[in-house]
Amino acid sequence: MPDILPDKARLMMILEEKIKSVFSTCAFNEIQTPILEETEVFTRSIGEDTDIVEKEMYSFLDRGGKNVSMRPEGTASILRAYIEHGWFNDPDITKLYYFGPMFRGERPQKGRLRQFHQAGVEIIGGSSPYLDAELIASLNSLLKVLEVKKYSILLNSLGCQQDRKQYEKTLSGYLDSKFSDLCENCQRRFKKNVLRVLDCKNKGCKEVIKNAPIVVDSLCSSCSKNFNLVKSILTKANIAFEEKKDLVRGLDYYTGVVFEVVSGALGSQDAIAAGGRYDDLCLEMGGPDVGATGFALGIERLLLVIDQEKYEQKQILGVFVALIDKELAEYGFELVNQLRDNKIITEWDPTGRSFKAQMRKANRQKWKYVIIVGEDEIKTGELALKDMESGEQINLKIENIIEKIQMEGKND
Ligand code: HAM
Repeated sequence: MPDILPDKARLMMILEEKIKSVFSTCAFNEIQTPILEETEVFTRSIGEDTDIVEKEMYSFLDRGGKNVSMRPEGTASILRAYIEHGWFNDPDITKLYYFGPMFRGERPQKGRLRQFHQAGVEIIGGSSPYLDAELIASLNSLLKVLEVKKYSILLNSLGCQQDRKQYEKTLSGYLDSKFSDLCENCQRRFKKNVLRVLDCKNKGCKEVIKNAPIVVDSLCSSCSKNFNLVKSILTKANIAFEEKKDLVRGLDYYTGVVFEVVSGALGSQDAIAAGGRYDDLCLEMGGPDVGATGFALGIERLLLVIDQEKYEQKQILGVFVALIDKELAEYGFELVNQLRDNKIITEWDPTGRSFKAQMRKANRQKWKYVIIVGEDEIKTGELALKDMESGEQINLKIENIIEKIQMEGKND
């Protein structure tokens, strides 16, 4: 679990603001759920036989002896909240977004961390294919705003529960004769949850899966129609996608249209975002029978595919207060507070360093302005304001300095 150092934290904050602004434009409202939930919330939704539940969750008994887990994803908690707060009594569709840390005890590698961040959305209370298309369109707009280059939207449909059962039967029939070629894990999964065999990264299993029957061939006419409609809406809206017939998701709750966004710029962990429809989950978790769909974007993976230089801080539009003499610290202290009270980003160094060292620091930290505080300046009431970029220096009253910088901030 990484420390997020200041440069990265700053970058993440900028991305968070951009992401939240796109989500708000698409009329989603923010929700914040706790990091710790009863383990059952995840086991019942994500599925007992998934990698996440089987081996990646941080679970423990709390002081009251309750089995709790640190959230590995956001969807299950949001549905739990949706049911708990009775939002289903509201005739409107519930549209929520979230941004926060998730925890999975995976083997760490580039783009795969044990604590990572997701920004996600969920649309609960409707099954129209237009909602699936709207969701994918919002993800597409978001990736455009974030200037992600060379990404592909991969699309598939897993169908309804009956289709799934039908497909599981077909897949089991195919895998039965190849049972001995499967890894130990998949031999167990074959009996418990055969679809999970399709996610296996084992070379031998991959070879077997290559020629396996595909899920879209098991879709009923209604699911097939919905899938075709989603594709046609996206095509008409000029949103490019690829149909990926072997795309199944690593979580069990999906039904209907599912998708992943991958980037060629990433290695084996190439999914930047993923999601899909999960129409049965609300009922399974004890709520009413309402359709839902959503996606989550992995922030650390996003950081690997954006042009980070664009976000680098070139200069701080603010003031470094430099003291000619350390005896002037009392005056400096007042000045710093006055500037900050006027919303001007301000820094100083009262540790007694030489004036030269303070100027070097101001330069290194990329402050646009330095206010020089000396006896003369205090006497005349006019402070020396130095523009660190041009080297120009002018004497101004503090009120005029504040006004000047505030104006520049407005025009920035
Ligand atoms: P997921 O595919 O498990 O789906 O995760 C979504 C995204 O989170 C991935 O595409 C990836 O970018 C990022 N991610 C996942 N695990 C890690 C990790 N260990 N390190 C870094 N990034 C990671 C979900 O979580 C679903 N809840 C998405 C969803 C929302 N489906 C419907 N609604």
